[in-house]
Amino acid sequence: MKFSGSHILSISQFDRNDIERVFEVADRMVPYAHRQRVTKVLDGAILGNMFFEPSTRTRVSFGCAFNLLGGEVRETTGFETSAIAKGESLYDTARVLSGYSDVIVMRHPVSGSVAEFAAASRVPVMNGGDGANEHPSQALLDLYTIRKELQHQGRSDLDGLRIAMIGDLKYGRTVHSLCKLLCLYKNVTVTLISPDELKMPEAIVEQLREAGHTVQESDVMEGSISKVDIAYSTRIQEERFASPAEADLYRGRYRLNQAIYTRYCEPNTVIMHPLPRDSRTEANELDNDLNDNPNLAIFRQADNGVLVRMALFALTLDVADQVDKAARDVNWYTERRF
Ligand code: NCD
Repeated sequence: MKFSGSHILSISQFDRNDIERVFEVADRMVPYAHRQRVTKVLDGAILGNMFFEPSTRTRVSFGCAFNLLGGEVRETTGFETSAIAKGESLYDTARVLSGYSDVIVMRHPVSGSVAEFAAASRVPVMNGGDGANEHPSQALLDLYTIRKELQHQGRSDLDGLRIAMIGDLKYGRTVHSLCKLLCLYKNVTVTLISPDELKMPEAIVEQLREAGHTVQESDVMEGSISKVDIAYSTRIQEERFASPAEADLYRGRYRLNQAIYTRYCEPNTVIMHPLPRDSRTEANELDNDLNDNPNLAIFRQADNGVLVRMALFALTLDVADQVDKAARDVNWYTERRF
């Protein structure tokens, strides 16, 4: 794909070469994200960061990624502080805000809304999550993490990957995008573990099968995570249910803790989660007793989000090859934290 000036709305836009390009640029962002070098390549550029649903990681890491490239961030959070609350259409909002920013990231509760917004925008728009539909930057950072974790184990290839996805596969947009992304690879075994009512949408399962992958579906976790490289847990997406009581029916159905991990998983199985993990006792999908497990990759995964989002900005705004030219060493005290 041609990155410069493009919207990033769906994983379906990418082919395998595009993914390699994103990952190669993300790798080059390490000195900046790790506070060894400072670049001003986006000095003067403005990101409109518009989040109409709760978000910590995605919002802050997109903002942080833009700042780390030297740009400024303007944030709009929640409908109540935006003119959408006065009845303004996505079309009008997009027309106006694209005059104020060089790139826009948007999260919105309605599937397809970010694409609708992008159609009226005069600058590139990135989908930070549109309802239960897609979350492309998350899938990219997830696959980037999978690749890095496997490399750490001495495996160089994503082909042949064995992955289990656990939890709310019906409403979880991260797993929707991740499945679409895995379709670009070969010979993947995907084990989908969810309650019957929260299964992965049939169209996505079909896409995986058409890509030649092995798909297994189950409603029990324990036996199904015994032969996987990656156990990817997800939160019950309570905000998509008709009532909290309905979400309560499924909360806490799949709880991974150290005892279960030790008993059922292979010693190298990497544990992932897009976060936030629901740590309330009635849910507790990933127990805190896993925090010292070296294969718990959830915080490395969140750190990788900055690298991948820096790469997306650098490519979309066509500065990927200028980043190092506008750089110098960091001159303040930095704790080694990565
Ligand atoms: C996810 C999301 O918003 O889809 N969070 C994130 O962006 N890292 C997952 C979730 O909220 O459960």
